Amino acid sequence: MARLISLAFEASAVLSVLVVALVGTALTSMLMVAVSLKLLIDAAIQHSSGGVVAGAIVAGLGLAGNVAWLPLGASVSLRLQERIQAALDRRLMTHVARIPTLELYDRPELAQKLQLLMNDDRFPIGGALVTLTSVVAYVGLLAVASVAMGVQHPLLGLVPMAVVPLLWVGYRADRAWERTRERTAGDQQLAHELFRLCTTPDAGKELRIFDVGDDILERHAAAEARFSKALNRASWNAALVRSASWLVFAAGYVAAVLVVVQRAVDGQATAGDVVLVITLALPIVMLAGTAGPYLSVLSQLNAAAERLRWLSDLAAEASRPAPATSSPPTELLGSIRLEDVTFAYPGASTPTLTDVSLAIPAGSVLALVGENGAGKSTLVKLLCGLYEPTAGRIVVDGFDLRDIDHEDWRSRICAGFQDFVHFELLAGDSIGVGDLPRRSQPEAIATAIQRAGSGDVLVRLADGLDTQLGRSWTDGAQLSTGQWQKIALSRGLMRDDPLVVVLDEPTAALDPSAEHQLFQRFAATVRAGRDNGAVTVLVSHRFSTVRFADLIAVVDEGRVTDVGSHDELMARGGTYAELYEIQMRNYQ
Ligand SMILES: Nc1ncnc2c1ncn2[C@@H]1O[C@H](COP(=O)(O)OP(=O)(O)OP(=O)(O)O)[C@@H](O)[C@H]1O
Ligand SMILES: [Mg+2]
Repeated sequence: MARLISLAFEASAVLSVLVVALVGTALTSMLMVAVSLKLLIDAAIQHSSGGVVAGAIVAGLGLAGNVAWLPLGASVSLRLQERIQAALDRRLMTHVARIPTLELYDRPELAQKLQLLMNDDRFPIGGALVTLTSVVAYVGLLAVASVAMGVQHPLLGLVPMAVVPLLWVGYRADRAWERTRERTAGDQQLAHELFRLCTTPDAGKELRIFDVGDDILERHAAAEARFSKALNRASWNAALVRSASWLVFAAGYVAAVLVVVQRAVDGQATAGDVVLVITLALPIVMLAGTAGPYLSVLSQLNAAAERLRWLSDLAAEASRPAPATSSPPTELLGSIRLEDVTFAYPGASTPTLTDVSLAIPAGSVLALVGENGAGKSTLVKLLCGLYEPTAGRIVVDGFDLRDIDHEDWRSRICAGFQDFVHFELLAGDSIGVGDLPRRSQPEAIATAIQRAGSGDVLVRLADGLDTQLGRSWTDGAQLSTGQWQKIALSRGLMRDDPLVVVLDEPTAALDPSAEHQLFQRFAATVRAGRDNGAVTVLVSHRFSTVRFADLIAVVDEGRVTDVGSHDELMARGGTYAELYEIQMRNYQ
């Protein structure tokens, strides 16, 4: 809970203090109204004008507090709610971004907890401070009411406490409802996904061509029917249990009022006492209606705080640097070697890469070829240090990659990926983020554009590098897949002194001649020794491109089955030669 309170203060200290003060004022003003009525009535009966004035002042203050609370409290807590949710988002982003490798993305736990924190927990966490203060205030109210009634008769002091079992029953009913909601979460998620599928542009083409709209509507209706039936039953049960327990409480309270009335008749209590006991019932009952749900929210908050703690511990643990880290070399002199590298994705039963040994000499271009799913991208991710080998090691000029600082290593990598990101920024920034320190240097961006051959994309943009890209913006330029890929490739080639350049099918959406030209140009610059011994790892299914690499490795089901130059592999007549022949024949 301390974590959640600190989150509120981090989001806005001023609003947090205001919320606490306002909740306190609301409660105090309710009590003031109740007490002022007693004072007024007692004073009126005793013909004490001073007492009437005092009572009227207290009543006025109480009512003013009450009236002020409603609009002010609502808007302040809403503002705070928004600020806390934004702070929560930033905290989640920081935690996830601090995790240096990709391993954790593959752990279903992380995905589930993040999902809960981002959706279900957002609202309660946003209102955590209001909830906690309200609960404390409610306990205060019950204590005051107990004292006021206990003065009449010690046993009457217990009557306000009778609300406790009531809250408990309500809490149980809410929990039962909550469990039903969790149980039906699958169907709710399904309905949500189907809705998204029908309404987002991505699926638009296929939905229409395959005419699956009606089918999706039916599935949506079926999923909705399943979860709403269960939820209906649960919420009726909760409502019935609640009402019944309230009736019991009300009967008890009426009995208590009768006792005080009887005492008044006997002259042991004043008319004001009777009014006080009756008026105190109102906030107790009224607030219990909100306090009941507050208790369920409290238990949900507890779970949410637990999840938040789990995530921050995980991020702290994962981002702790290994004890002895060294910097990457300034230039590659020898080679990057994979020594018996085996790798299995977290949770996978079979390894994706098995006993891969491969030497990539400094300054050379290595091409990886192989079927879909062979493990090419996985190998590339290991080289980038995004995953660590399960067994074996990657050696960079004699240093184990594990001992090289992750961040430093990655700052020496240029990368274009198969599943690249559409950074919906200004075109120049979308390229510039490839090397943040040089993001606003026009020459750096121009060089990257030239390296990737993406000049044609930029020429067609209305404002050149200052054009806003992406569908999320009203005036954002819509690019074709190939154009996006060229932007991504320019971004990938921003850095000037890489040690490794990985090109994992970054050109799959380009036409073969564009790809061919790109690699020709690229290989020429690499060979010219611009790159302080940097190695280039290229993945492509196009043999017309691959053949120009210095070294070609054939990857088959996670193993490197053959390595050599194009001529060597052709002379050997293995898989590579066969595939090459097939592709060349089909192209002619
Ligand atoms: N994050 C992941 N978690 C678990 N398994 C994965 C993950 N990513 C890839 N795999 C599995 O690893 C295997 C190799 O995938 P990889 O992406 O390396 O293939 P690839 O050779 O690059 O194929 P393609 O030519 O289609 O790009 C596949 O069987 C795939 O299902
Ligand atoms: Mg791949």
